[in-house]
Amino acid sequence: MAAPTSEAAVTVSAHIKKVAVVGGGTMGNGIAQVFATGGFDVHIVESRQEFLERAVSTIGKSLERVAKKLNWAPERSSEILKHVQGGLSLDAARTADLVVEAVTEDFATKKLIFEQLDAAAPAGAILASNTSSISITEIAACTKRADRVIGMHFMNPVPVMQLVEVIRGLATSDGTTARVLDLSKAIGKTPVEVRDYPGFVANRVLMPMINEAIYCLMEGVGSADAIDTVMKLGMNHPMGPLALADLIGLDTCLAILEVMHDGLGDPKYRPCPLLRTYVAAGWLGRKSKRGFYAY
Ligand code: 3HC
Repeated sequence: MAAPTSEAAVTVSAHIKKVAVVGGGTMGNGIAQVFATGGFDVHIVESRQEFLERAVSTIGKSLERVAKKLNWAPERSSEILKHVQGGLSLDAARTADLVVEAVTEDFATKKLIFEQLDAAAPAGAILASNTSSISITEIAACTKRADRVIGMHFMNPVPVMQLVEVIRGLATSDGTTARVLDLSKAIGKTPVEVRDYPGFVANRVLMPMINEAIYCLMEGVGSADAIDTVMKLGMNHPMGPLALADLIGLDTCLAILEVMHDGLGDPKYRPCPLLRTYVAAGWLGRKSKRGFYAY
């Protein structure tokens, strides 16, 4: 968990002071937390008050873990929390220099949000999406500022994971890309720039492994525990692919595989039928307390 780099923070803060995060779920609250920790004013937009309260409470708990790990002064977490505000309207984008969208992995939902954000946000504001796989070019085309639309793909759990995959759409400008690369460093992350392609790099490589682990389970090659143990002890992965799928959310895994299957047209990305069945049953992993494991 690297501390934000102050040199980069100074450069970026000349342009970007206020950040709106649309969606306060697993990814959104983590993103809000890392921006607030980096000294930015953050406004979370949620659809319901209870979701907003849950997001802020999750940030509070996560900050306590970070405080313990990094030995922060007792008041540091509450100081950071003061930078986090929330509301139920996209009007918050009116004063934002950067908006990061982190809603469900569904193009129609994102399209609606980007159209509204484009109308609300100041002309110079950057609109970023935390999409895991959906085309940034397609999202940008829903706006009149395609040069200021970009992908900022954070990893789960956001406060812990070092990477931000930065995805340039076809029309994303050099200036927007440079600012987002700087900004990622300013919040203590390591950005890696990649091209706009279905699944980008992170999920193009990760999801086939998770999908294959689910096929192994469906075909009875091993139990969930056996498959995860093979990958943990045999490949030194911090957690097995099935436990990781439960962490990411099985609905999200399915949505990403669908985007890669449709977008690349290769049967090797075909989502495993067992994954579809679990999602249909509402077994979505940790968030529904049932996935490949019970929580
Ligand atoms: N907030 C703050 N700190 C947290 C945290 C959170 N939400 N979650 C974990 N931590 C901290 C803990 O406090 C702990 O700190 P410590 O080392 O000082 O004790 C440290 O992280 C490790 O946590 P735990 O001891 O609870 O558990 P583990 O050692 O098992 O680590 C893990 C948990 C960090 C999740 C680790 O198993 C891991 O790295 N797993 C792989 C995660 C991964 O691959 N993520 C990418 C998913 S793909 C993705 O997000 C893309 C999307 O598009 C699908």
